[in-house]
Amino acid sequence: MNRTLLYGIRRLLTMCQNESGALGVIEDAAILLEDKKIIWVGAETQAPSTDAKRVDLNGALVMPGFVDPHTHLVFAGDRSREYGLRLKGASYVEILEAGGGILSTVEATRAASHQELFDLAKPRLDRMLRRGVTTCEAKSGYGLSAESEIKILEVVKQLNAAHSVDLVPTLLAAHAIPKEWRPNREGYIKLILEEILPKVAKEDLATSCDVFCDRGAFTLEESRQILNTAKQYGLAVRIHAEEIEATGGARLAAELGALSADHLEHIDDEGISAMAKAGTVAVLLPGTAVTLRMAPPPTKRLREGGVTLAVGTDLNPGTSYLEDLPLAATLACGLFHMTFEEALLGITKHAAKAVGLAGKVGEISVGAQADLLVYDLPNEEHLLYKFGQPSPVSVIKSGQVVV
Ligand code: NIG
Ligand code: FE
Repeated sequence: MNRTLLYGIRRLLTMCQNESGALGVIEDAAILLEDKKIIWVGAETQAPSTDAKRVDLNGALVMPGFVDPHTHLVFAGDRSREYGLRLKGASYVEILEAGGGILSTVEATRAASHQELFDLAKPRLDRMLRRGVTTCEAKSGYGLSAESEIKILEVVKQLNAAHSVDLVPTLLAAHAIPKEWRPNREGYIKLILEEILPKVAKEDLATSCDVFCDRGAFTLEESRQILNTAKQYGLAVRIHAEEIEATGGARLAAELGALSADHLEHIDDEGISAMAKAGTVAVLLPGTAVTLRMAPPPTKRLREGGVTLAVGTDLNPGTSYLEDLPLAATLACGLFHMTFEEALLGITKHAAKAVGLAGKVGEISVGAQADLLVYDLPNEEHLLYKFGQPSPVSVIKSGQVVV
């Protein structure tokens, strides 16, 4: 048993609401860690007397590690040409329907070995960690065959074992209909239901299943069928919903008790109240809105409807080549009119809920994992104020200093 008392914390953001507000600020705070976990948190003057090792943080600002609730971390290839084409007016769905877009990343990702995919993804994770991300959801979806979807999830597993950032693996075999199945889309869905899902569940390669439910991708009915089957295999579910057009994906997410529905630019009021009732988190993705020049989601209606809001990078080579989660939060404030508190909760406590880790990460509370960011900052607004700055002076992951 290894105990450490962190003290000299001038400003601690627990992310658990207290009398100071939604960020749960405690001034002149201390945290007691035991191995990987937090076992006490409070004012330094009330710290329990202990023979723990004492570490003085010299007046730092401390908060929980960031949680990125939506990434497509593992991919190969280059889509910069497509980016240029879209800036000239080509549409995302037209490119996808013509066999480009997601399908061009699929070609490159299928051709890459485990090692190549690992070597491409690892430096992305290194950069994310330096910006304060300690937990990151990671989807498959650029394989679109049993073999290649499993290859991606195996790479996620290898990265999880090799890297300090904890990865939360998601199966997204229903990201697009691959070229060879275009004449027979039912055949591809059957492959997901009867081969990919059972294998992924049996080998424990994912904790949740996602579907791209939108124009040019999967219909509402197809999505329902896939996600219902995923639930039977014990996977949690989530949906890329209402991004390109209103499809009812948010209502479906609520109906299935999904952890999250993501994007939501075109969500309607019925979708909002269903999500609020079901406790399904709305994951908002400003990187995508910037890249695709989309109108923002209805943040005000989501907030007033009582939906929990999270923010992700949507890191992917097509619609959001954004690795920087605190920058995503800054963009969510500016473009999506989120408040500072919503954005900060959206990349910590509420993002943790979106990935099924509520209470375990994204907050500083007794029993939570000791994932902590240490900053040399006078006040928390600095966390989002300067684009792409500041980075933590040190990152503690599961009780160990990793940056
Ligand atoms: O989240 N919307 C679907 N999937 C990704 C884009 C994937 C791609 O274009 O490669 C997204 O935006
Ligand atoms: Fe996505």
